[in-house]
Amino acid sequence: MIGDLKAVIGWLPARERWRWFVLVPVAGLAALIEAVGALAVFGLLRLVVDPELVRTTPVVSRLSAMWPSGDPRALVALLALGVGIFYVLRAAFLSWAEWLRQGTVYRSSAVAAERLFARYLAADYLFHAKRRSASLIEPMTRASDIAYELVAGSAVNIFAEAVIILALSVVLLVSAPPITLITVAIVLGLVLIPIVMSRRSWERIGESERELYQQQLHLLNQSIGAIKDVKITGRQPFFEQRFRQVKRELGATKQRRASAATLARLGVEATLILSMLLVVFLVMRQDTSGVATVSVLALFAYTGFRVVPSANRIMLNVGYMREAHPWISKMDDDMRRLRVPAARPYEHDRPLMQSSLTCESVSFGYEGGPPLALDNISFTIERGQSVGIVGPTGAGKSTLVDVLLGLLQPTTGRVLIDGEPLEGRERAWQRQIGYVAQDVYLLDDSLRRNIAFGIPDGGIDEARLAAAVTQARLDEVIAALPRGLETIVGENGIRLSGGQRQRVAIARALYHDPPVLFFDEATAALDSQTEREVTEAIAHLRQGSHLRQGFGGPAGGQAARGTRTIIAIAHRLSTVKHCDQLIYLRDGKLAGLGTQQQLMSDAGFRQLT
Ligand SMILES: Nc1ncnc2c1ncn2[C@@H]1O[C@H](COP(=O)(O)OP(=O)(O)OP(=O)(O)O)[C@@H](O)[C@H]1O
Ligand SMILES: [Mg+2]
Repeated sequence: MIGDLKAVIGWLPARERWRWFVLVPVAGLAALIEAVGALAVFGLLRLVVDPELVRTTPVVSRLSAMWPSGDPRALVALLALGVGIFYVLRAAFLSWAEWLRQGTVYRSSAVAAERLFARYLAADYLFHAKRRSASLIEPMTRASDIAYELVAGSAVNIFAEAVIILALSVVLLVSAPPITLITVAIVLGLVLIPIVMSRRSWERIGESERELYQQQLHLLNQSIGAIKDVKITGRQPFFEQRFRQVKRELGATKQRRASAATLARLGVEATLILSMLLVVFLVMRQDTSGVATVSVLALFAYTGFRVVPSANRIMLNVGYMREAHPWISKMDDDMRRLRVPAARPYEHDRPLMQSSLTCESVSFGYEGGPPLALDNISFTIERGQSVGIVGPTGAGKSTLVDVLLGLLQPTTGRVLIDGEPLEGRERAWQRQIGYVAQDVYLLDDSLRRNIAFGIPDGGIDEARLAAAVTQARLDEVIAALPRGLETIVGENGIRLSGGQRQRVAIARALYHDPPVLFFDEATAALDSQTEREVTEAIAHLRQGSHLRQGFGGPAGGQAARGTRTIIAIAHRLSTVKHCDQLIYLRDGKLAGLGTQQQLMSDAGFRQLT
């Protein structure tokens, strides 16, 4: 519990942490004001009933001594006015304190989620290949709220309630020491026993809530993501049934959570009444003077009804902190394990791949070892070459490209650029690359924003956009759309055809006019006419664009000088016939290297057609 509290405060940068340290005294003060307020009303009512009491009641008697000749009723009226003003101020202070508290909770949650998001985006590609997206969405949407509502917020509540109990105990201790000791013992017992006993059940509730919440996200992602297959196969009932089950279990868990809280509250209340009766009994036996008994009992009744809710809230908040534990520990793992890399200055002055890109005995296994997706691959690509990567499905083509892109680190061996290791320079390298993925992902936004990916509207270069559109053979497609470049493509480009989607991805890769281009089956979804056009376009792309001279420093100049390196994966040999060199993969091994003519002697290669 303390560990979780430390963790969630630790997720915040120093400039956010101080808010919590301000909140603690504010919450303590708010608790005191609440306690004093209730005491004031209680005392005032007694004085109204019997104004003569002003001469005997503590604190007030001192006031009346300052005004000995006055009418006690006038003093009571004055006190009533004082209490009224106090309540107005109290309302103002408490609402400010609550505003501060909620602000701190949700701001902290936002900051933590935002830091985690940056870590996820910076994480290795392999990390993303292994984790289901629901397990990344859950901490950022739910666990971060829980961290500050249920862990840090509850800790502040516990502190405030402890202040109340302490203050009331002091008041009681002054007025009736022996009975106070008994009461304190009873209250401590009331709080501690259920806290210790309910420990595991709160954690179990938290664990199953977290699990079910993730399942729910996962299920929704999957079923709506695969809507076409769901409809065609008529499997709606299957997904509906699973969703119903998860939702109902989630409901049952929430019910358990609520009833645990209620049970604890009712149990404490019942026990308290019993102990009050015990106190009455003790007081009656000890003291025979009726008046004193009544006033001590009244004080007890008041503090009892004040302390019980406090004790309850402590218990409940301890429960909440326990419930939060499973969420926090998982989120803390990610917060600790993932690092946002320190911003490294781009190597502006040193364009990469001035001469060559080399694979030196590269092996890669997705699990860090066998089975190997790439097995001891070595080759060199010269600058300005056009290279095709071919091979049957599952041969490791996409994996090889991911390694060359610097997304995956080789398990053994190295990737060299101009004879120097790529490792540590991935960002500088990726800035010079255009990449069209095997499964294109389009944003649910306009074509313009899809092509100028992640660039704010004001920063989009129209000339470059137009050039990219032309080179990707998108002109006609856009001309046919009523809203042209402003057309919204729908989630993952659902309103475009497969071929159009590919070409949007190609235009996106070309927008920065990169000196090196990677295509992963960029032409797979095109009809043969369009495929020919795109293939020819790719062949032309080798010349680079003459649009910009020296954009982004000398790196851009490379393309402008007309030597673009192109590395394209293809299933069909027709698309790689222009290539200077083919890399032929089979079962993760390099089965051949050379021109199409040179490889034709291989029977397996001929089968690729
Ligand atoms: N994220 C992953 N986790 C574990 N194994 C993977 C992962 N991605 C690919 N593999 C495995 O690595 C091997 C090579 O896959 P890869 O995607 O590189 O093949 P490919 O040559 O691109 O095939 P295709 O032509 O079908 O796209 C396959 O056996 C595949 O099962
Ligand atoms: Mg592939």
